[in-house]
Amino acid sequence: MKVGIIGCGYVGLTTGVCLAEIGHYVICVDNDVEKIKKLLAGKTPIFEPGIEKLLKKNKRKLKFSTNIKEAVIGNDIVFIAVGTPSNPDGSPDLSYVESVSREIAKYLDDYKVIVEKSTVPVETAQWIKITIEKYKKNNNVKFDVVSNPEFLREGSAVKDFLYPDRIVIGVESERAKRIMLKLYSKIKAPKIVVDTKSAELIKHASNSFLAMKISFINAVANICELSGADVEKVALGMGLDRRIGKDFLRAGIGYGGSCFPKDVDAFIWIAEKIGYDFSLLKEVKKINQRQRELFVKKIEDSLWIVKDKTVGILGLSFKPNTDDIREAPSIYVIRSLRQKGAKIKVYDPKAMDKMKQLFQEIEYCNSPYEVAKNADCLVILTEWDEFRGLDLAKVKKLMLQPVIVDGRNIFDPETMQKFGFIYKCIGRS
Ligand SMILES: NC(=O)c1ccc[n+]([C@@H]2O[C@H](COP(=O)([O-])OP(=O)(O)OC[C@H]3O[C@@H](n4cnc5c(N)ncnc54)[C@H](O)[C@@H]3O)[C@@H](O)[C@H]2O)c1
Repeated sequence: MKVGIIGCGYVGLTTGVCLAEIGHYVICVDNDVEKIKKLLAGKTPIFEPGIEKLLKKNKRKLKFSTNIKEAVIGNDIVFIAVGTPSNPDGSPDLSYVESVSREIAKYLDDYKVIVEKSTVPVETAQWIKITIEKYKKNNNVKFDVVSNPEFLREGSAVKDFLYPDRIVIGVESERAKRIMLKLYSKIKAPKIVVDTKSAELIKHASNSFLAMKISFINAVANICELSGADVEKVALGMGLDRRIGKDFLRAGIGYGGSCFPKDVDAFIWIAEKIGYDFSLLKEVKKINQRQRELFVKKIEDSLWIVKDKTVGILGLSFKPNTDDIREAPSIYVIRSLRQKGAKIKVYDPKAMDKMKQLFQEIEYCNSPYEVAKNADCLVILTEWDEFRGLDLAKVKKLMLQPVIVDGRNIFDPETMQKFGFIYKCIGRS
């Protein structure tokens, strides 16, 4: 099939290369000229395992352009995969989706399925339909709007796209259903075909549920700290119950990234707009914020006076195996410690270039050991595998004070004690 994709970010680009991998002809469009230049040169503008390999392998089936017209004319399916960031009041900013819908309308030349891939609130498909109807130039041309939310995780996006737990397809016509099932026929996964509103809600409800699991275990971690229990053991005991499941029960410094914070906000907002006070989710959000504050307090408590102390930070991305720092807890931690007068040194295997655009006045190091050198405290914010394998004796020797505050529980407290560290982590004493 011939597919156009508008938006070449984590979702759009992954969708593009993976659809090419399963045999489709794809043109990916973005209005970011630099991104398209890189892609035309065979390079990926984001770090995501497996993407570059698939780009090369499928280069005859993949095109890139800055012109939306090329994503529409002559294609069977057009994906909208642009960002839907939060407005200050928590509502999702759908202006990119709207503007792209208007552009698509201009170039509609024949029947097409317009796929809403971006995460959007319930009823957005209807609005896209109204917008395209209003702006289309050719009154006779027909189209369908489909909601096909994406569940990939950054860091394993390609694998998640090609081997998903399920594919959700929200349609309002048999024709669109047939086309979407054909598009995904090579992917072996349950295909859930529902109405567009239910599909939109499945995405927001899923992400909010996962955020709730994280906040729940973080609240339990705080009770563990206060009572002397160990949250890792509690989570293990809970997670083996199949009704609960072990995923998303890792206590830490709370969720970040471009999805959970904004999707929780958007779900609270849309619920309120249509008449329901989703107070449970408001609490999920509060717990998440409090978790970061408690973590900074932990760092402060281990330093006594923060001013002029050197804090080394390991990990900047919001999770391992990605260079994405959007809403990463590291931003909050660095900002808070700087306000209190600390000197900051950082290292991350992939996310330093992005962080340099936010903070110029902190020291960027080439290795975890360079961060540890003369640090009063070492703080772990992302659980990159590289950090698990650190030579702890060497780290201790390099530091001014052997203090590690671990926001991701990557070490065993007993081992750390044996090495002579003052080791503070989450939900374990
Ligand atoms: N990142 C994830 O893990 C993930 C997972 C599932 C769903 N989603 C959802 O998918 C959507 C996209 O997320 P993302 O992480 O890929 O975002 P992103 O910011 O990485 O990518 C969005 C892209 O759209 C482009 N764009 C914006 N306006 C445009 C326009 N008018 N014309 C052409 N291109 C335009 C931007 O330049 C950018 O490259 C969001 O709604 C997000 O919530 C994201």
